[in-house]
Amino acid sequence: MKINFEHALLKENIADYQDRVNEIHELLFKRECKGNDFLGWLDWPYDYDKEEFARIKEVGKEIRENADVLLVCGIGGSYLGARSAIEMMKGLYPDDKPEIIYTGNGLSSTYLYQVLNHIKGKSVYLNVISKSGTTTETAVAFRLFQQYIEETYGEEEASKRIIATTDKARGTLKNLADVKGYREFVIPDDMGGRYSVFSAVGLIPIAAAGLDIEELFKGCQKAYEDFRTPDLSKNIAYQYAVARRILENQCKGIELFVSYEPSMTMIAEWWKQLFGESEGKEGKGLYPASVTFTTDLHSMGQFIQEGTKSLFETVLTLENPMHDIIFPEDKENLDNMNYLAGKNIDWVNKMACQGTVEAHVETGNVPNILISMKDNSEFSYGYMIYFFFRACAMSVLMLDVNPFNQPGVEVYKKNMFRLLGKPAK
Ligand code: PA5
Repeated sequence: MKINFEHALLKENIADYQDRVNEIHELLFKRECKGNDFLGWLDWPYDYDKEEFARIKEVGKEIRENADVLLVCGIGGSYLGARSAIEMMKGLYPDDKPEIIYTGNGLSSTYLYQVLNHIKGKSVYLNVISKSGTTTETAVAFRLFQQYIEETYGEEEASKRIIATTDKARGTLKNLADVKGYREFVIPDDMGGRYSVFSAVGLIPIAAAGLDIEELFKGCQKAYEDFRTPDLSKNIAYQYAVARRILENQCKGIELFVSYEPSMTMIAEWWKQLFGESEGKEGKGLYPASVTFTTDLHSMGQFIQEGTKSLFETVLTLENPMHDIIFPEDKENLDNMNYLAGKNIDWVNKMACQGTVEAHVETGNVPNILISMKDNSEFSYGYMIYFFFRACAMSVLMLDVNPFNQPGVEVYKKNMFRLLGKPAK
């Protein structure tokens, strides 16, 4: 992974923040920083449950062998990691089984109705994922699909097809899974949802999609090694963390995450949750937004180029695409496109990226941080995720904010429960 600040228009030196970064790095690893009870993700690249990891591989294999459809039922941190990984590494139209359908991440009756219709006659497995076990969106969808699976296969077979990922000791879902005899996997106590993709939360769907979770761990282990040092001349996660704060000081209130692959749109969604939920507290933080280019150049491009100068871009690109196509020649050339004949379409995409960075930075005066990944492999994904974990923790702690809680999310829930007439416990 490489990071390039040449187009970031930084008015301060990243290196000038070395003392502050050293201080926070030490607090983080001594587990004395804000939110220190939620640092399970920090040493996880090595310090994970090996026995559970083996069970995850087995269940992933079983799902691949037996399911036409895997329903992944969870919301927020309980699903965005898996979806971002699977879409990035497999693309949007993979041609193998199982089809993975994400449910329990909203309350649209139309969506649920259509998924129920879509899975009829197919072999279905369900992975329900909820740390609290009480999240309304997940619980509503889960009951519908649980009943469908029980009616279709009978209770005994259903208990093999439903897999629960939840708290190891308590909660509604834990109790339900115990009673029903589901296989259970653990969301560690000291790991918030948005930092949980390397636990069973992300790994079961990722393994079921046929991806190599050992390679994924090798990637995050490499990142762990690379980011052992707080030295700002070497640690690119901390460089990025500091650059975000410098740009905020330059009155940029919005960070726009940019990718050039539709299969990375969910990476942007995962990234927005990571930074939005970690940073947006106490009236502080950059607003994380996202676009997918080149399509959004035809919608948001105008604003980025000439609108309010309140944003900077963080552009994440792949050096090597998953697939490439050579643009064909056409004898008649009625569309006047022969000037591209023989060129790779990925090259065209890269030229669009280069031209856009130039337009936004040089003409539009919009700072661009450029991050590039070698490819969309499991190794690269694992590296990239751990990079963002560490960058996010450092960046948020620089604001003196706890990166690992999300007190604001409760406000809508309280109102919704009142309107729904949810009985008090
Ligand atoms: O990051 C988080 O902690 C949240 O996004 C949660 O993952 C999300 O609210 C789902 O919660 P739960 O897993 O308890 O159902």
